[in-house]
Amino acid sequence: MNSSAYLKRSYINLKKLKFYIHTFGCQMNENDSERIGGILTQIGAQKSSCLEESNLIIINTCAVRQKSEEKLFSLLGRLARIKKRKNLIIGVAGCVAQLHKAKIFDKNSSIDFVLGPGNYADLTQIIQKHLGEKFISISCSQKWQEIPFKYTLRESNISAFVTIMEGCNNFCSYCVVPFTRGQERYRPFQNIILEIKDLALKGYKEIQLLGQNVNSYKDPDSEKNFSALLKETNNIKGIEWIRFISSHPKNFIPDIAVTMKERRKICHQLHLPLQSGSSSVLKRMNRGYTRKEYLEKIAFIRDLMPDISLSTDIIVGFPGETEKEFQKTLKILKDVRFTNIFSFRYSPRPFTTASKIEDNVPFETKKRRLIEVQELQKKLQLEKNKTFIGINMKVLCLGKSKKNPQIYSGRNEGFQVVNFKSSKNLTGKFVDVLITDCGPHSLQGAALNK
Ligand code: 5AD
Ligand code: SF4
Repeated sequence: MNSSAYLKRSYINLKKLKFYIHTFGCQMNENDSERIGGILTQIGAQKSSCLEESNLIIINTCAVRQKSEEKLFSLLGRLARIKKRKNLIIGVAGCVAQLHKAKIFDKNSSIDFVLGPGNYADLTQIIQKHLGEKFISISCSQKWQEIPFKYTLRESNISAFVTIMEGCNNFCSYCVVPFTRGQERYRPFQNIILEIKDLALKGYKEIQLLGQNVNSYKDPDSEKNFSALLKETNNIKGIEWIRFISSHPKNFIPDIAVTMKERRKICHQLHLPLQSGSSSVLKRMNRGYTRKEYLEKIAFIRDLMPDISLSTDIIVGFPGETEKEFQKTLKILKDVRFTNIFSFRYSPRPFTTASKIEDNVPFETKKRRLIEVQELQKKLQLEKNKTFIGINMKVLCLGKSKKNPQIYSGRNEGFQVVNFKSSKNLTGKFVDVLITDCGPHSLQGAALNK
């Protein structure tokens, strides 16, 4: 690694550091960025919402698909041009940092430091001691690394992310996450509860528990499991809605569904990534369940909670996916009728077992299958959303709609976007909304609160 001291030390006045964090990827990354922000404000730096006005840029990266990596390098190209005309410190954090380590310096010479997801606590040291030379901090600790939650710089003051575990032991054959986030590490139960109690005191109404595989959570000190964590969170006064993401179908045990049914505050909403409707593809993906087992799980959950709102992830064009196998994915979408799906073209990722087998599904086929999945789902969503017209539902108002300041926007218990008219500003409040219209991706209505 080249460690040229091209940034003048005299430049580093911590009070004059204005930082901007660009986040790619999932909610875990969003929460990590909020925590990085907290660490930086502790050393006197100030958050900026404008990239051009900042002198410290951190890019929190995602490595799940090739496309997200490409976006990083195009952003770095833009930053390199800005760096030619002004003093700028550029750091690459997150999963791409962990994946490529020091090699990232070779891909773009304007990068000053590289920071793995397990090393955010090192940021203070990097900023204070190492600026002026290129620096890398990458490790994959086998233990949970606690970052004090007190300073987390949250994007919302209504709904908060709380990370409960990190890493994944599942090694799905297409997925790079076990190689970037490492083995599963669980956050101590008491630390999670303390953070949620602190959020409740600050007036937060909704908590989203986060982890790559939340259902496998167990307290490192007491072996309390995920259901125990849900129950304890349910007891915290002030928090009204509890959600969690992501679940793995094989770890989603009946006890979790029963807890969801019995505890009032746990939203009847579940993201349960399916990936494919074909058992043979699921086997090649190393998912640990069959189509039949997934459907049985859904039937059990729906039997307990008929109003459950289900969403899923789908990958099309996995190596060897035949037309017949793909049709099974379309069929299961029609059978289950998810509230929402996230669908992707298979993208080969480094180190994964799938990347070592021949990817014999042509790009055009992958593209066509993705369109077919998305068109079908759009139609199914519109059909489902129409059934809500004329119904009153509880919505947590998150603020004014970005597109139209006359309209407020929020989420219902099923995590659907609801845009509604209101004569009063009801931000942060639970609102009764009468649904009057819908599209495939959102519901529209009017507030009934006086
Ligand atoms: N190609 C395409 N999609 C992927 N995902 C994970 N790895 C890949 C890959 N190599 C998708 C899965 C996962 C979601 C977070 O990203 O659907 O559930
Ligand atoms: Fe990746 Fe599978 Fe782990 Fe999800 S469960 S993070 S898809 S390896």
